[in-house]
Amino acid sequence: MKNFSYCTPTRLLFGKGVVEKLPEVMRPLGKRILMTYGGGSIKRSGLYDQVKTLLKEFEVYELPGIEPNPKYTQSVVPGVKMCKEHHIDVILAVGGGSVLDCSKAIAAGACYDGEPWDLISYQVKAQAALPIVDIMTLAATGSEYDAGGVISRTETNDKVGYIDPLLYPVCSLLDPELTFSIPPKHTRAGIADAMNHVMEQFFAEPNTILNDGMCIAALKSLMFNAPKVMADPNDYTARAEIFYTCTLACNGIFCNGNGRSGWPMHGIEHALSAYYDITHGEGLAIITPRWMRHILNEKTVGRFVTYGTGLFGIDANLPAMEIAEQAIQKTYDFFKGLGIPMTLREVGIDEKRLGEMAHHIAVNEGLDEAWAPLTEQDILEILQASL
Ligand code: NZQ
Ligand code: ZN
Repeated sequence: MKNFSYCTPTRLLFGKGVVEKLPEVMRPLGKRILMTYGGGSIKRSGLYDQVKTLLKEFEVYELPGIEPNPKYTQSVVPGVKMCKEHHIDVILAVGGGSVLDCSKAIAAGACYDGEPWDLISYQVKAQAALPIVDIMTLAATGSEYDAGGVISRTETNDKVGYIDPLLYPVCSLLDPELTFSIPPKHTRAGIADAMNHVMEQFFAEPNTILNDGMCIAALKSLMFNAPKVMADPNDYTARAEIFYTCTLACNGIFCNGNGRSGWPMHGIEHALSAYYDITHGEGLAIITPRWMRHILNEKTVGRFVTYGTGLFGIDANLPAMEIAEQAIQKTYDFFKGLGIPMTLREVGIDEKRLGEMAHHIAVNEGLDEAWAPLTEQDILEILQASL
């Protein structure tokens, strides 16, 4: 077991009606709030009006229109400018992972005199960040319980994971009823994203029985509840369990003491959404089984055996390679059964830029140091197999 350091300072308020606690959460953090949100879902659901009413005693400034795969120039830069102009004390992110991720970058940029990209690209280490509170409305990224945000810079085809302990939210308010209105496309994609977060931590060595158990339980929780919410979007119990599992799945608690995996599927997917602005969870679902097939060999097969027998109950007496093949097929079938498009062509990506993307990934994502190392050629073959 490896040494590790772990500290999550975020308070979780989870359950029906927790949004009502917002004033009490915000009061110790200051009077001047920047409220950030996306393209309108919170207005349609009534959450916007509820939040505005709850925040009557505060001075609230608004940054609307944060886009999926949040953009540096269009959203981070204006947000930082607003924080500085209005001497903002605290950021309140209301929406999905994109809104919160963007708010994290704004929080750091607001406390820095230079160009915020210096921080996001790790040229400069942030010394401070504004406090962040969120009302998360989409079960997927786990941004509500982690120290990261992912920012896209369209001009350079970059999509960068920006991680710093300063970016943990102070408090995340998580009401599963707010997730009832997530459309089927994003419900599916969110589940695939969280499943992939678990897999990125599971497929590494060394590992522990404890971590393996938590990972398999998290995957079972998501896979058991997924068809339930697809059939009935207002199934509170299923939405709630999915939401909490997503919250835990990107926090790192499932891999304390494990070896580093290098998060290869995310490394590949980030280029897909940087170049083509696709939905993150769909890109991951497409890549996952192809990555699995590509890295399956005598050295890696043991992990697939633990995965296949633990998650799918595949007969442990079968030859290891057969267990692995069945497990990969079942992973593919699950995503397909949920209704996720399972080829790159279906999400608008053809062969034209695969080589360019493979090169970009190989140069920027460090996947040659992953648990199952990938060269540029490997990455290209995974992309080709995903077409
Ligand atoms: O913009 P609005 O109108 O709010 O609509 C959003 C958006 O169109 C909608 N939505 C959100 N909650 C809703 C809802 N619609 C109806 N009812 C609700 N309750 O859903 C759409 C997608 O939202 P988005 O925030 O983009 O989705 P998600 O939460 O999946 O976030 C994706 C982003 O997070 C990054 C991804 O790369 C991507 O940029 N990630 C962040 C991570 C992190 N911080 O740790 C880890 C992940 O691996 C991931 O990379
Ligand atoms: Zn993800």
